[in-house]
Amino acid sequence: MTTAAVGRIVRPDADGLRRAAELLRAGSVVAFPTETVYGLGADAFSAKAVGEIYRLKNRPSWNPLIVHVPGVAAARELAAEWPAHADELAARFWPGPLTLVLRRAPHLPGIGAANDTVAVRVPAHDVALRLLEATGLPLAAPSANRSESISPTTAEHVVRSLPDVPMVLDGGPSSWGIESTVLDLTGAVPRLLRPGALGLRELRDVAGPIALPESETEDGTARPSPGMSRRHYAPRARVVLCTDVRDADRSGLAEPVGVLSFEGFEGTEVLSADPREYAADLYAALHRLDDAGVATILVQEPPRTEDWLAVRDRLSRAAAK
Ligand code: TXA
Ligand code: MG
Repeated sequence: MTTAAVGRIVRPDADGLRRAAELLRAGSVVAFPTETVYGLGADAFSAKAVGEIYRLKNRPSWNPLIVHVPGVAAARELAAEWPAHADELAARFWPGPLTLVLRRAPHLPGIGAANDTVAVRVPAHDVALRLLEATGLPLAAPSANRSESISPTTAEHVVRSLPDVPMVLDGGPSSWGIESTVLDLTGAVPRLLRPGALGLRELRDVAGPIALPESETEDGTARPSPGMSRRHYAPRARVVLCTDVRDADRSGLAEPVGVLSFEGFEGTEVLSADPREYAADLYAALHRLDDAGVATILVQEPPRTEDWLAVRDRLSRAAAK
């Protein structure tokens, strides 16, 4: 890492938080740790600051951002309607890796193409919560990486993906390592928009039935045609999913080939066979494989069960052309 990059990684002590809050109040952007992945934050009320997020990430302007708040009261202020499910889900899962899509309060500017809705969550990370308290602002924050590439789970990942980021608060590795679950509460039935850290079973326990995206079936079988999904969460190397890495046909794969698998299979990177532990290390493993200079990452496909829904979603997007 360059010394310039090191200088921008800041310890989240009182002085670091004060400087970060100053930057944010002045309409600049700051990357900060959350329990899922690192976010690139900006004042959600400032069109200029939010525009800077889109510029730094090279994010398409239609793709809306999640707004981070320190608690339920602050979330309610951003929503025009607060349905009963929001009360129950927030009470059970906030702070935590659940993002709720709600009708947007008129005083909050629309972000991206989300004209009448807002996505909001309370992160379960001490540094994120202290930053939110210090600024007194709702912070719009997508994952702190260039658009389409792998989400960052460490401060070093952030500066490598976004060399021009003004500051990154270093909170160590993210504990969940995969993005929040996004749930749309604007219709009659809660609808899953993005599988994520929080599992469907836990959500159903609180909210009852949940509508899944068309391409996912009830038992959690991921989209039948991974090539159809938009490319996202992708390393530089080409990702190829296979049903068994042990007998995969490697002819035609660009060398060198790295193998990402889980316990029970051979691999260059062998992750846990537990979906939560696997998710926690997935992005770091993809970063390591990229750093090792492999041209192809052969990935052992995880089981087609609901527990693996978020991991399978990310892998299929990483593999999309
Ligand atoms: O864990 C996370 O959610 C991380 C941390 C930093 O909080 N953030 C994150 O943000 O993953 P991002 O921008 O990479 O993903 C946000 C997702 C996108 O799929 C976006 O389309 C969706 O949430 N989203 C945001 N606002 C929305 C809205 N109003 N309606 C529907 N989807 C929305
Ligand atoms: Mg992202």
